[in-house]
Amino acid sequence: MRFSRAVAVATLAFAVAACTEEKKEAPKPAAAAAPAPAPAPDKIIIGHVGSMTGEQATFGVSTDNAIKLAIAEQNKKGGIKGKQIELKTLDDQGKPEEAAVAATRLITQDKITLLLGEVASSRSLAMAPIADANKVPMISPTSTNPRVTKDGANTRPFVFRVCFIDPFQGTVMAKFATEKKIKNVAILKDVGNDYSVGLADFFQKKFVELGGKIVAEQSYKDGDQDFKAQLTAIKGKKPDAIYVPGYYGAVALIGRQAKELGLKVPLMGGDGWDSAKLFEVAKGALDGSYFSNHYTDEDPSPVVQEFIAKYKAAYGSVPDALAVLGYDAANVAFDAMSRAKDLSGPEIAAALAATKDFKAVSGVINIDADHNAVKSAVVLGIEKNKAKYAATVNP
Ligand code: PHE
Repeated sequence: MRFSRAVAVATLAFAVAACTEEKKEAPKPAAAAAPAPAPAPDKIIIGHVGSMTGEQATFGVSTDNAIKLAIAEQNKKGGIKGKQIELKTLDDQGKPEEAAVAATRLITQDKITLLLGEVASSRSLAMAPIADANKVPMISPTSTNPRVTKDGANTRPFVFRVCFIDPFQGTVMAKFATEKKIKNVAILKDVGNDYSVGLADFFQKKFVELGGKIVAEQSYKDGDQDFKAQLTAIKGKKPDAIYVPGYYGAVALIGRQAKELGLKVPLMGGDGWDSAKLFEVAKGALDGSYFSNHYTDEDPSPVVQEFIAKYKAAYGSVPDALAVLGYDAANVAFDAMSRAKDLSGPEIAAALAATKDFKAVSGVINIDADHNAVKSAVVLGIEKNKAKYAATVNP
């Protein structure tokens, strides 16, 4: 078992050839930077900015694994316009300011043709103006905050995503809670995280519109470990459920501490819960809770099961939503680059904007006027410390 997996990974690494991954160095002053050599004319360099380390390391690693798979497959098919694709990944350690530095470096020094990432909205928001200013197309696989593709009222010309957005995701859970006869909800959000703050607002708006009541609002910050004060305040308000639109690290601890405090109500959340680490840390404390997501590994459709098998063969684990959408983002990029008149930023962006009925693993992708994909969401329930498919919600 071990041996065959090592072989599979080695084969993949070989197929991706010069694919590199670097820890980001301290930013150099622009004047000291060596003039960038133009990429070899027979190569296309794609950049990826992700959280390869830090609090949300599973987000970056899953996405990067899947992008590598997509590149290996595309290169095997002859690449794009006769050129082979190379990947250059930079680690942002889960920090928006590092994501901005990494995006700038990939664009100005590595002369990338297209940028993939980030998955977290706060980090994509830090990168988006840089992609636009340099006319380099950027595709976020899973950033769901609506502002990622917007510059005020205008759509950012070079920024796209292949996922749904949070006004929809918030509505999905508000409706689901209402159907479950949940009337009183407490909200616990990460105030330093654009995704968490936005999703809490969208959920609240819809839930109240449907007749529900928000009985408590509490907050925390990324990196917090102790949530007992907030949970005690919430307990006093006797909610039927707690909405926690955060990332897996905090959510797992919140689940455990809620249980320790004798709070028996379900937690509800969004795609940010999706990580194998959620279950490792929660150790069953989230049983009975629900979250919305982009995909379920129980989906019997052949494209989904085929991707799961490929990913397992290469990496030895079932792909999460980050992997599915990382793979989809790369393939949407390759499709647009193949259709584009040439590989200039404006031509690729025009082809991306024209993406129609693209059959991705996460569903059919049509890019709308705001550069978003309109897709269905799934609701997953946690049972015996595992995510189980509960419902599909169409836009
Ligand atoms: N949607 C989250 C964000 O915008 C990122 C995310 C997507 C995390 C999917 C996990 C799974 O920040």
